[in-house]
Amino acid sequence: MSEELELVASENQRLLKEVRQLRARVKALESSRWWRLHPRFALRRLWPFRGATRDEPPRTEPKPPQVTDLTERFQAEVMARGTFSHDWFTGNIASWELVLQLLEGRPSNILELGSFEGLSASFLLWRLPEARVTCVDTFAGSPEHLALHVDRSQLEDTFDRNVALVDAARVRKIAGKSADCLLKLRHSGERFDFIYVDASHLALDVIVDAALAWPLLVPGGVLVFDDYGWRSPLGEDPLLLPGPAVDAFLGLVGRHCEVVAKGAQAIVRKTTPRSAAETLADPAHETGSSQR
Ligand SMILES: C[S@@+](CC[C@H](N)C(=O)[O-])C[C@H]1O[C@@H](n2cnc3c(N)ncnc32)[C@H](O)[C@@H]1O
Repeated sequence: MSEELELVASENQRLLKEVRQLRARVKALESSRWWRLHPRFALRRLWPFRGATRDEPPRTEPKPPQVTDLTERFQAEVMARGTFSHDWFTGNIASWELVLQLLEGRPSNILELGSFEGLSASFLLWRLPEARVTCVDTFAGSPEHLALHVDRSQLEDTFDRNVALVDAARVRKIAGKSADCLLKLRHSGERFDFIYVDASHLALDVIVDAALAWPLLVPGGVLVFDDYGWRSPLGEDPLLLPGPAVDAFLGLVGRHCEVVAKGAQAIVRKTTPRSAAETLADPAHETGSSQR
């Protein structure tokens, strides 16, 4: 009998040792680059954010140390010194890391549709010190801001002050409606490496912004839609939500991009060179001249 007990005890010891070794391997894996980059782990980190509403901060699970560190440094170095009445952004830093690493160390050209008080723009300027950021906003606020009682009276001044905390010289501010500005940018032949669509959240506006932004994106460039999984305080009608517009748009460009993440935000990367449809639709094509 005592021999049997000894056997069980030693088997227990062996199993405990194996569990400890496995835990150590999981810990090592989670603190590695792989943890941040592998789409399966990225999706696992994004999944709990689904369905968050704008004023509820997304539920978080422990983030990899690198992202927690990045968020805390941004909060201390920029947010704590600025005037940011709402944080609709920092919950996205983990998923943005999947793509911003591609832009590190080069003078990338970034377009943001919808800047509000400049929180996401300040992050881009801070995270990518060589990037230039074009910020488009009416600075009049959005319809859902009325429902959420967001003060929009000083929006443009607040934006100016906040981005100046990082580097106003790398910001081009364009005050106006996103669709008008996108058409002008297209006619001037501009191209961007990263486009953030976060202006009007009404479905038809989102699909117009997406359609006009797509030809401005370089092959390999990244398009991010905010609030893909958002529930609007204005109602359940699909016309009030970005999600159905993003799905409809991805139904069209799906074969020309890869979906990097779909959660609170949708992040896609343009994979193909300029499509025949884009060439045909290019104003330069009509005039016979080429802007590239
Ligand atoms: C959700 S906020 C942007 C938040 C910002 N990206 C951030 O994370 O800090 C949306 C912004 O889009 C602007 N906006 C709404 N409709 C617009 C439109 N059609 N064209 C340009 N800007 C618009 C609003 O004025 C508002 O500042």
